Amino acid sequence: MKNYKIAVVPGDGIGKEIVPAGWKVLTAAAEKHKFSLSSDSFPWGAGYYKAHGQFLPEDGLDTLKKYDAIYFGAVGDPEVDDTLPAMLYTFKVRTSFQQYVNYRPVKLLPGIPSPLRYKSEKDIDFVVIRENNEGEFVQNGKIIHPDSPYGVATDTSVFTRMGIERIAHYSFKLAQKRRKKVTNVTKSNTLIHSLAYWDSVIEEVAEQYPDVQYNKMYVDNASASFVLKPEVFDVIVTTNMIGDILSDLGGAIMGSLGLGPSGNINPEKEFPSMFEPIHGSAPDIAGKNIANPLGAIWSGALMLQHLGEKAAAEDIVKGIEATTQAGNLPLDLGGKAKTDEIALQVIEHLQKSVPA
Ligand code: NAI
Ligand code: MG
Repeated sequence: MKNYKIAVVPGDGIGKEIVPAGWKVLTAAAEKHKFSLSSDSFPWGAGYYKAHGQFLPEDGLDTLKKYDAIYFGAVGDPEVDDTLPAMLYTFKVRTSFQQYVNYRPVKLLPGIPSPLRYKSEKDIDFVVIRENNEGEFVQNGKIIHPDSPYGVATDTSVFTRMGIERIAHYSFKLAQKRRKKVTNVTKSNTLIHSLAYWDSVIEEVAEQYPDVQYNKMYVDNASASFVLKPEVFDVIVTTNMIGDILSDLGGAIMGSLGLGPSGNINPEKEFPSMFEPIHGSAPDIAGKNIANPLGAIWSGALMLQHLGEKAAAEDIVKGIEATTQAGNLPLDLGGKAKTDEIALQVIEHLQKSVPA
């Protein structure tokens, strides 16, 4: 039997609830599809930082490197400086492991009351491909004499030809498998160096994919279009910060942030990829068994897809759809179902659907 070794990092807050819920679904899908998942769980994150002064141990990355994939919740704690979690965990893993693709599907599920009530499931079905290693989030900056009247702060974005080319190729190849349309979401009319270069390199790559329709849209217009005409999107390719913001908006038009899945993907598989819901550690609702685990469960499906277990991944997505359709929803979607109950519902649907 094929076995995959997964590093499980629940992190902080609701990560400790949604990740175990998602793991139960993953093992049920594995059992049905006749492969196995072995896991080691690591208590890393902001809570670990409070006790040990670091988000993960010195050899943490070396440890993670030995796994086939990483199944992650979220990091962040109200008692810990919030400039640290991304720097000391999330971005560290994403960049050290060259997870340069951040894959974030946006898809309206049946039975979910989307705030866009005039739109149907066929109107909201696209993927945000966020460049995940460069751009605005490289933390390349300084704060100089902050308390003086001459205080200066900078964060300089970094865009490289190699970084832009590889995310563009990934996006066009993905579009070839979908509805053959790529929208580059940019702001090159005001960021006239970095994003003008971004656009020009993406346009060069676009010419190599004549079967894919290419267009460019500014982010201000794109955010309005997410709400007014989401049906125009198939694959969106965008920068690190724009992708971060737009994908939360994507979560919102699906009906809740708790639904959005993501994969931090190293397409060449030189390093493990990391799968996590798009939301954070939600300390306001942590510890109550009320967090929506569907984003974490769906992230698990993306992980199985990446590992090559396509049928099991599709089965989990069908299980999610059957669960939302049945209407016993979590609190954020207006229902009463608890975190662990939602996972059990997905498992039930998954076990009931046609055998593999
Ligand atoms: P958040 O995503 O944690 O929460 C925003 C709002 O959405 C909250 O009202 C929360 O209750 C709700 N929400 C989020 N996920 C939910 C779920 N699964 N079910 C039901 N409701 C859900 O974002 P926020 O509040 O900006 O950040 C909280 C902490 O998370 C911060 O420390 C932040 O740095 C961290 N964070 C970590 C991320 C990561 O580890 N990749 C990503 C985003 C934030
Ligand atoms: Mg975010």
